[in-house]
Amino acid sequence: GKGNHRHFMLKEMHEHPEAVSNTLRSYLDPTTRAVTPPDLPFDWKDVPRLTITACGTAFYAALIAKYWFEQLARLPVEADIGSEFRYREAPMPAGGVCIAVSQSGETADTLAALRYAKTQGQTILSVVNVPESAMARESSVVMPTLAGPEIAVASTKALTAQLVVLATLAIAAARARGTLSREREAELVAALVEVPSRIAEVLNNDDAIAAVAHRIADARDVLYLGRGVCYPIALEGALKLKELSYIHAEGYPAGEMKHGPIALITEEVPVVVVAPTDSLADKIASNLEQVHARGGKPVLLSDAAGVARLGAKAFAALTMPAVDPFVAPILYAVPVQLLAYHAAVAKGTDVDQPRNLAKSVVVE
Ligand code: M6R
Repeated sequence: GKGNHRHFMLKEMHEHPEAVSNTLRSYLDPTTRAVTPPDLPFDWKDVPRLTITACGTAFYAALIAKYWFEQLARLPVEADIGSEFRYREAPMPAGGVCIAVSQSGETADTLAALRYAKTQGQTILSVVNVPESAMARESSVVMPTLAGPEIAVASTKALTAQLVVLATLAIAAARARGTLSREREAELVAALVEVPSRIAEVLNNDDAIAAVAHRIADARDVLYLGRGVCYPIALEGALKLKELSYIHAEGYPAGEMKHGPIALITEEVPVVVVAPTDSLADKIASNLEQVHARGGKPVLLSDAAGVARLGAKAFAALTMPAVDPFVAPILYAVPVQLLAYHAAVAKGTDVDQPRNLAKSVVVE
């Protein structure tokens, strides 16, 4: 049941900390604080390319993982949407690895993409929340997420759990490839271990998130901007807002704004800026200033340092806990989901069962 919660989606967002800690527990040794990936039938040193395929929110996990594997393990990565990948006839190198990411493990397009990768001789890994699913059965290695059942059509805690699996796998790949110092690895693991408590802080700030949501709920269009590893969080925020509240929303890599979407900026359009303090903070700060200078309404999601710097130019601001930039996308997934949830509740839409959508898309 929903417990004390008004919707399954709200209950499931309150389970983010547990989903993350349960998943962490199975991919990290708590005493040595080392990642403990499953045994793999290949050596990361020999892998010429990793392909990650998924749909919807799971695709955003794939896109975030691309940044992690490239940066930490110096491994070329292709992240592609199942429905595109399955028909693209992409050449795949001998010795390559393909990861399918899916809550249900049954999504037709992701399964077809997995099968295509198999015909190309790739080793198949799957990151699924349902261990007896079709994708799990057709993979060489299954890496379960321990998010627990997800009932609401909107995928929430499955995303943070997928990110935990992919983050620990990226660290393992980096270690095997000799591209990560012991010191940095220890920092990354420490940052992961902290995530459940940081998410709990975000959930405790829900009243502030709801207040921001009420300020965007009347908009016709909302833009979401992010950069680097948080760009996919902009995509997640926009998808969730669309599917739950039916407000038109677009997620963009912030640097791309000047190539078109900036034409949409008016005082009617809230622009949610996902801006943790990281190596791209100056870049995203200037993107926010451009929105402000054109009379737009920036909604800033940042830590105390970011809010101190940019809050005065924002239409609304939400202060997030400060975290290592490595785990920022895991943490910032939570407020963008909550924003969409509260906007939908304010509009009175059917949050758990939005129109036209199914939980598992098992047909093409
Ligand atoms: O079961 P899967 O993770 O493969 O599902 C993928 C998408 O259908 C799913 O994430 C969808 O986009 C959600 N409605 C997003 O909230």
